[in-house]
Amino acid sequence: MCGIVGYIGPRDAVPVILNGLKRLEYRGYDSAGLAVLSNRHIEIRRASGKLSNLESLVAELPVSGRLAIGHTRWATHGAPSARNAHPHASRNGEVVVVHNGIVENYLELRQELLADGVVFASDTDTETIVHLVEQDLSSGLGLVESACRAFRRLKGAHGIVLMSDREPDKIVAARIGNAGGVVIGFGQDEMFIASDLPAILDHTHRAVFLESHQVAVVTQGGVTVQTLAGAPVDYQVHDLPWDPVASQKGDHRHFMHKEIHEQVRSLADTIAGRVDFDAGRIHLDTLSLSPKLARSLHKVVIIACGTAYHAAQVGKVLIERIAHLPVEVDIASEFRYRDPIIDPHTAVLAISQSGETADTLAAMEEARKKGALLWSIVNALGSQAMRIADGFISMQTGPEIGVASTKAFTAPLVDLYMLAVLLADLRGVVDSANLRKLVSDLALLPDLVGRCLDRESEVVSVAQALKDTRHCLYLGRGINMPIAYEGALKLKEISYLHAEGYPAGEMKHGPIALVDPDMPVVILAPRDPWYEKMLSQVEQVKARGGRVVAVATEGDQHLASLADHVLWVPETPWLLSPVVTVIPLQLLAYHIADLRHLDVDQPRNLAKSVTVE
Ligand code: F6R
Repeated sequence: MCGIVGYIGPRDAVPVILNGLKRLEYRGYDSAGLAVLSNRHIEIRRASGKLSNLESLVAELPVSGRLAIGHTRWATHGAPSARNAHPHASRNGEVVVVHNGIVENYLELRQELLADGVVFASDTDTETIVHLVEQDLSSGLGLVESACRAFRRLKGAHGIVLMSDREPDKIVAARIGNAGGVVIGFGQDEMFIASDLPAILDHTHRAVFLESHQVAVVTQGGVTVQTLAGAPVDYQVHDLPWDPVASQKGDHRHFMHKEIHEQVRSLADTIAGRVDFDAGRIHLDTLSLSPKLARSLHKVVIIACGTAYHAAQVGKVLIERIAHLPVEVDIASEFRYRDPIIDPHTAVLAISQSGETADTLAAMEEARKKGALLWSIVNALGSQAMRIADGFISMQTGPEIGVASTKAFTAPLVDLYMLAVLLADLRGVVDSANLRKLVSDLALLPDLVGRCLDRESEVVSVAQALKDTRHCLYLGRGINMPIAYEGALKLKEISYLHAEGYPAGEMKHGPIALVDPDMPVVILAPRDPWYEKMLSQVEQVKARGGRVVAVATEGDQHLASLADHVLWVPETPWLLSPVVTVIPLQLLAYHIADLRHLDVDQPRNLAKSVTVE
């Protein structure tokens, strides 16, 4: 998804912009560009493909200046090409813009501009913005007013940054709706602008996050924030805790591999500060959950997309089993348009790694309108999903760079478990011995996950056996059914193999017809309450000549004798088993993709942060 960087200050802006864009590479993009104010004129460099193409272009045609904006593009309107890459310039070259989002009324605006004699230089919706600004600027209005007048005409959700050589002392940035964030970072006599924190964390740890429908006027000395109508707005400067070093790959060949291995630490961090093992209690202070509030709840609705949705499905089992509270789980893009039945006794919980997913944010807004109590589980501190919620749980995993989510899947599983235990405690539905057991089991997790990772070489052997397959079926049941979905999603997104996750009990109603020796079937059969049922599933697949890869509890020789391959996991309390069973499936997907020589960290067509609908 598009990434934005801006700089104004005493140094050469070009390396700052290129470095910032590099930090955003993980989001996925198809072209990149930058615009620099150089000798009072704006110079633009744009290239399709990887960022290294833009770097080569800048090396061939050097440019420097103290004011610049840059962009990585993920095509929506117009093919990925240098011509369609941002920044886009006005006809007279006086204004340039970079943009994240979709101008929903761009056809109408384009017709209007064409009728005014504007000639378009690209096929993008973004270009309409810069021509609108230029029209007002040419009629004598100032840059900020011209920009705001243009912004007010745009339908849809946007992050926009623009500058002009007519007013070379400022950059104007706006956030309209939920098309991803706009963050303004403070340096020493210099300022930074970005769509995402990693782009500026090398330079600053103090930043302002724009709210929807706010405009920032950024100068070398600071920032003022206003509404689209021009009314001044007070803002809060946040201290940012993330360490940019944590964004580096270290010894690992891929970020995804690093992040899979980081789960021992990230789960320990997730638990840290939240669990009082001595008292047998959970503390989730950022949720502000009182016993009265917990008892007043009639229902929890969990909304999310993709991998986060699979975490939500596990959350349903956890909260219903542990806290005895009904839970509905919904895909955010469905929830937002379904007119869901929500009342003030419903807590709506959004799960989002980025905290900026457009569908999830829109679903949260829908829940807010209907009067729900609004919670979120987010990884990106300061993100919109964190800020608009009444309470939140931070995943505490650090930045996740690999597009395929791994550590930001297991962290919310643990957050959901802790939430379930806390709700059970506050609602008085669990006795103290059980409560103490539920809490103390959390301490086992980092070690259990570490033991799965220690078996990586066995997973590599299975990956070698499966790497040339065309299809793969994943079956699970109960609390491990969502892990079948998640295992299949990981495989399909990074290895481009067709993989399907299925509730095992549904096999006999159709999908069993697919089973033959060419269809490997990954069967999740740890020792949980569904174990016996999963054993008979293994028998059924074998009886039809299928190839079984079993995820099995260490020591389960019976299952091993039935299966063709085994991915071993240590014995785990069943309510926490998804945190463990998913680890070999993450590794399996990673190694199959790697053996197929694919771009594991940046799979085709995907973006890390999905800020368009
Ligand atoms: C898959 C993956 C996506 C995201 C989904 C939601 O590996 O990463 O399916 O889980 O796009 O993203 P967030 O959690 O940022 O809302």
